[in-house]
Amino acid sequence: MKVREILVTSALPYANGDIHLGHLVEYIQTDIWARAMKAQGHQVTYVCADDAHGTAIMLKAEENGITPEEQIASVKAAHEADFAKFLIEFDNYHTTHSEENKHFSELIYRRLNSAGHISTHDVKQLFDPKKQLFLADRFVKGTCPECDSPDQYGDNCEVCGTTYDATDLKDPRSTLSSATPILKTSKHYFFDLPEFEQFLKDWTRSDNRLQTSVANKLQEWFDAGLASWDISRDAPYFGFQIPDTPSDEPDKYFYVWLDAPVGYMASFKNLCDKRAGTERALDFDRYWLQENENKTEVYHFIGKDIVYFHALFWPAMLAGSEFRTPTGVFAHGFLMVNGEKMSKSRGTFIKAETYAEHLHPEYLRYYFASKLTDKVEDINLDLEDFMQKVNSDLVGKVVNIASRSAGFLVKKYDGMLSEVCAEPKLLEDITKTGDEIAAAYENREFSRAMRLIMQCADKANEYIDEKKPWALAKLEGTEQEVQDVCSVAINIFRQLMVYLAPVLPELTANAKGFLNIDDLSFASRHEWLLGHKINKFKPLMQRIEEKDVAAMVDASKASLEQTATPATSNSTKSAADTKTDAQADYIGIEDFSKVEMKVAHVLACNHVEGADKLLQFTLDVGEDKPRNAFSGIRKFYEPEQLLDKKVICVTNLAPRKMKFGVSEGMVLSTGDPKTGLTVVTLPDDCVVGDQLA
Ligand code: MSP
Ligand code: ZN
Repeated sequence: MKVREILVTSALPYANGDIHLGHLVEYIQTDIWARAMKAQGHQVTYVCADDAHGTAIMLKAEENGITPEEQIASVKAAHEADFAKFLIEFDNYHTTHSEENKHFSELIYRRLNSAGHISTHDVKQLFDPKKQLFLADRFVKGTCPECDSPDQYGDNCEVCGTTYDATDLKDPRSTLSSATPILKTSKHYFFDLPEFEQFLKDWTRSDNRLQTSVANKLQEWFDAGLASWDISRDAPYFGFQIPDTPSDEPDKYFYVWLDAPVGYMASFKNLCDKRAGTERALDFDRYWLQENENKTEVYHFIGKDIVYFHALFWPAMLAGSEFRTPTGVFAHGFLMVNGEKMSKSRGTFIKAETYAEHLHPEYLRYYFASKLTDKVEDINLDLEDFMQKVNSDLVGKVVNIASRSAGFLVKKYDGMLSEVCAEPKLLEDITKTGDEIAAAYENREFSRAMRLIMQCADKANEYIDEKKPWALAKLEGTEQEVQDVCSVAINIFRQLMVYLAPVLPELTANAKGFLNIDDLSFASRHEWLLGHKINKFKPLMQRIEEKDVAAMVDASKASLEQTATPATSNSTKSAADTKTDAQADYIGIEDFSKVEMKVAHVLACNHVEGADKLLQFTLDVGEDKPRNAFSGIRKFYEPEQLLDKKVICVTNLAPRKMKFGVSEGMVLSTGDPKTGLTVVTLPDDCVVGDQLA
């Protein structure tokens, strides 16, 4: 067999929100595929990263009162923890805010530029004069120019369905500041996509790179005509600066989607560097240089919403900069829960973390596997069906085979399996089905693979039911037969573990201990377990309990308020689907007690040069060093009015870097920042550093 060298990726999740079950469709799908290809003996490398750039992430950091760097570091840690819980086994997990990514983004851009694929022209766009930034469509709301419905986003009207330019909205306002946007012109950089039209037409139709429905979708886009792609954004922006721009012009940044797919390369390069000089060394050039295109394979797993970026922009960027293009791009559909879009109020917007607090991640891996096909179809997590299917297939059928037969073998035969297989035809049959199962995995027909596996499990259970070892064991002179029957059952169970290993890595690893084997590769199944000793059986999986599913749904409703808003415009809109459950307004005492408030003594209070809203405080909060804090109360106080006062300071807010310095605490006030704020002062005899509760 030729060992194939395969690089596989999942789309890079945005660094401004939590991983939810929708995301997991993709990471579980990719992980199963990568594990299945590894189990078939190929050399597979699976990389991913956080997508760390863009306006949404910059604003999220601002909202959280931290720097973008702090924001992306904490989200990356949370993402990695979530993925680990769901047994997603990346070979590398990196970030797009990295040296490697900067290097390759600049390199690709420079090559495109020198080949004449980059041009500039002026763009008129809505600009928020208060926030001082250009507004993407989702940050503008106004009255629909067509039907006069108020409160519509800048790209299309949810009432009449008309699509328009944000500049067409009546009474537009910025959703960031409520300011009325102004029209402002700035120079933008464009990637000349139309030059790649013929290349892309050939590319999308050749070598089975894309699913048919995706290729057809692309045909519609070709028919509509390709347009140049705006790849630049103005400051302030969190991202990489575009190199080689005229020094007398304002800095420009790469639009997040320019450097995001480059993140695949960057993560892989990071891994190559980590492994250099080891046995598992990887050669970057072998995977990415055009001349090596036929030596290795590169596959991207993505959701249907980002096909445009992966099947048009990305291959064109690669081809235009003399890198190889992906061997295949595989799109999946979206997750529905109980037949509907995930909904916060119904408790079906379920975060990975919330799920894992209540249910075993392998249940979900199996359920998704049983639903996933090679088509771009949405998949439905029906919670009732989920429970029923996992309990009946995994617990009732698969694990049951071992629990029904292991006991006899361990008790009566010291764990020894028969020397000869009593049902070679049956076992051969099931061994052979392995080829079909392997092919189904490779073709991403996981639901077919699961069906085939359950058919094998059914055969084993029918066999055991027919032979009835528990009844045989009561008769005289049946010792050999009981051992034979149970040995056949254990051998089938072992085949099933091989087949299920890509989906259930933990359960099957535990089964390895029980079966006393150390290999679950597809090839290993050809060696049957004869005259082999197994260990004592321990339960491998518990049934799903209805109460745990209900608790997860309740917990998802409760976490409604804390859920970070995802970055896409669609999800922002569906966030309107909020509070129907009064419970959602409560926090627990444990949330409240997280806030640390202390008595602070105002040692100094001053104006801040260049900030007409702020006062600067130097506060004694009973620590070694005084703290610095800024407060937006300049309009309502003269600094000396607050000098020497005892105030309340929140001392465990993450420090916030501002233009004028770092704010290390928050001084509490009452009132409305627009009409008037009163700083809460305490009696003079309060003890500095004492905590409020
Ligand atoms: N950052 C971009 C991808 C850049 S790739 C160079 C992005 N991030 S995302 O966090 O919004 O989504 C990550 C992946 O999860 C995407 O492939 C997306 O399609 C997928 N999903 C996000 N929500 C999903 C569902 N509800 N259902 C199924 N997949 C979903 O897009
Ligand atoms: Zn309208």
